[in-house]
Formats: sequence, structure tokens, C-alpha cells
Amino acid sequence: MKLHYNVASPFVRKVMVVAIETGLDGRLEPITRMMTPVKPDADLAADNPLGKIPCLVTDDGAVLYDSRVICEYLDSLHGGPKMFPAGSARWTALRRQAAGDGIMDAGVLGRYETFLRPEERRWPEWLENQKVKFRRTLDALETEAEAFETVDIGTIAIGCALGYLDFRYGDEDWREPRPQLAAWFEQFARRPSMARTAPAEIW
Ligand code: BEZ
Repeated sequence: MKLHYNVASPFVRKVMVVAIETGLDGRLEPITRMMTPVKPDADLAADNPLGKIPCLVTDDGAVLYDSRVICEYLDSLHGGPKMFPAGSARWTALRRQAAGDGIMDAGVLGRYETFLRPEERRWPEWLENQKVKFRRTLDALETEAEAFETVDIGTIAIGCALGYLDFRYGDEDWREPRPQLAAWFEQFARRPSMARTAPAEIW
């Protein structure tokens, strides 16, 4: 299966972590895409009209996006422990995934503001409010971090979000006011699936 990929993207990382945790990583053929919102990649756009990564082309030729859809598809392909649990645990996992994805969204939008937007057009209040969004979500996660006992789509998304903050917001000391979340991430980041997918500078 072809995966439109970029090693710096936290959403791609989420897909890769799910693939490794479910033993499917060997079936993925990552193809690096260097697009930005102002520099589209025509080959990617031919598969995903939104021009966004990750995007998966399955062995049957079906095109799947976004990361949530791809992760759930991968989870349907294996017989091991499910990343999308059944029953009431599903809603907790999906809500945690939404929290992790939301932190990534705010983090990536803030990154574009500082890295891509010309200096004279930057809007400091807008950037600050992206940070307010992810800080507030981190505060909420701190109150439940002691209960992060499972490896599922919720904890994977949160782990990838925290990894992205470390990668792009190194001066944001998110750990100090949130010791439970920090302690959980310390352990979670040691999983082989996380260690093998650490983001790297691409530009
Ligand atoms: C980044 O460099 O931070 C980045 C790259 C691709 C997608 C999202 C973020």
C-alpha cells in the first residue's frame, strides 16, 4: 500500500505508529511529499484532492484519507488487539483521538504561521490563540492521564501530539505544570513504535 508521507507530520506519525503496533508497517510503502499549504504537490493532489498527508492508496487501488480513516482501515486488517476498541471504550478512545488531533492541528497551524507566513503578515494574537487551544487541551488531559493504561487510537494520537510539541515548540515547557501527563509520555515514548517514528527536520 502506498502512503503519501512526511517524517515531520504528526498525523503521518499516528498512521505509522498504528501500522507498527498492528504489525502492518511492512505492507506500507511510504512516499515522501514535501508540499506546504502554499506549495502543493501535484502527485499527492491526484490522489487526495485536499492535497493533504497522510493519504493511503490500498492494494485494491482505493484512496483513503485522513489519518482517522486510514488508522481505522489499518485496524480492520489485522487479528491482534484492536486500536479502535469496541463498546463504551470506543467513545473514550475516539474523544482522546480528537483531543490529540486537535493539539496537532493547533500546533501545525502555529508552525505555518511562524515558518511559512512572511513576517510582515504575521498575526501574533492568532498564533497565541493556537497555543491557548493546545495548552487548555493539555490541562484537560492532565486530569485523566493516570487512566491512560491502554495503547489505542486515543493514547497514540495524544503521544504523537506531545511528540510534535517537543519537536516544534521546544521552548514550551508543557511538562512542568502537568506531571501526570509528562510521566505517562516518558514511558509511552519508549515504545518501539514511537521510537521508530520520531519526527525529523526536513526543510
Ligand atoms: C512540520 O514540518 O512541522 C510539518 C510538516 C508536514 C506536515 C505537518 C507539519
